[in-house]
Amino acid sequence: MKLSVISPTFDEAQNVGPLLEQLSQVLCGVDYEILIVDDDSPDQTWFVAQQAARRDRRVRVLRRLQNPGLGAAVIDGFKAAQGEVVACIDADLQHDPSILPKMLEELGRGSDVVVGSRYVVGGGTGDWNWFRRIESQTATALAKIVLGANLNDPMSGYFLMWREDFARVQEQLNGKGFKILLEILAKLHPANIREVPYTFRSRMAGKSKLSSKVVFQYLGQLCQLSKVGRLYSERFLKFATIGSVGVAVNLLTMTLFLKLTGEPGWQASAVASLTANVSNYILNNYWTFSDRLHKGFAIVKGYFSYLLMTSLGLVVTTSAYIVLTSGLRQISVFRYPPFGSFTALFCQSLSIVFGMYLNYRLNTAITWPDRARPEASQLRLRSRAVVARLLGRRKEPTP
Ligand code: GDD
Ligand code: MN
Repeated sequence: MKLSVISPTFDEAQNVGPLLEQLSQVLCGVDYEILIVDDDSPDQTWFVAQQAARRDRRVRVLRRLQNPGLGAAVIDGFKAAQGEVVACIDADLQHDPSILPKMLEELGRGSDVVVGSRYVVGGGTGDWNWFRRIESQTATALAKIVLGANLNDPMSGYFLMWREDFARVQEQLNGKGFKILLEILAKLHPANIREVPYTFRSRMAGKSKLSSKVVFQYLGQLCQLSKVGRLYSERFLKFATIGSVGVAVNLLTMTLFLKLTGEPGWQASAVASLTANVSNYILNNYWTFSDRLHKGFAIVKGYFSYLLMTSLGLVVTTSAYIVLTSGLRQISVFRYPPFGSFTALFCQSLSIVFGMYLNYRLNTAITWPDRARPEASQLRLRSRAVVARLLGRRKEPTP
């Protein structure tokens, strides 16, 4: 198994030498190549690297003249790599090269991506000042919240993965800014990410290129990734919008029901919710999940799945309604007609919120699963087994 170590450089002429030296020491015994990807640095880093490449055949230099930037440089480096495994490491020796063999080992043990991490036990940020520390922690927290990145150091520029996996997503990456790892993770959805601790060291020589422009770019990138990359917030927004349309349908149906029967009991709540349920399924199928559209007979099947998932929500909604109204019944609010209907509607609105969140999670995973993602279908299979067991329809072994 061959490892390609990609190191992006810009004005690192004094650092490439020591970097190559340290890498060759820690990688002794490993089949590897090193790619220095330089953006035509004014300090001629590319020239220093080319000289080193002349002495060592395992070193290659990519001198880029167009589309400068850290992310874009890493992408080009990964594309040019020949190893089965590609790693990315800063050239200024802030990323401790000595953990590379450990990272490689973790990948060999079945991980999809291995990240050098400052924020797990055993890692650290070294001698950062308070500003840099807060900046990094805020960015990390944002990445975790916005992307749901299940990782302690999603901002790390030190990572390693299978080149084959990279090749699968390479055309979807835009490479703007510093957060190439985040972008890769958002497109790849790797099932198994490992973090290996290290302490971020102080810079050997030269200065950081992480400017406020880069930080600004990062914020834009986060928004983009969360919307386009994961379709997460966009889909949820649609689901929530239809949810509110559903609330209108729900309350309208309920108003009619109350007019006809005059009885604000649980039946009113249940009938209203069921009507809204049918219209919500149809709207969600054609809009929210149009990329996973149910057609023909799948609509019937899909609706039953949706009904099953939302009936859990319905139970929550109706229970909440019963709890809320029973309290109010005791203080006799429902005896006075205008207050009675108004209070019933208000209680129903509150109850709907409870059921809503549960609905989204269940339906995304089970009614409209992402068939491209194995873990989604796993969940579907498991939940099918649970449902079958609940209905007593478990297949008995034939004698
Ligand atoms: N080719 C190329 N082009 N390389 C670049 C460019 C560019 O435009 N900008 C920076 N680099 C190289 C640097 O030469 C260095 O090897 C590496 O990318 C990291 O750049 P630094 O300027 O040293 O970044 P930093 O140390 O401030 O930021 C570190 O922390 C970030 C998260 O907190 C890095 O590890 C980042 O990768 C990381 O995202
Ligand atoms: Mn640095």
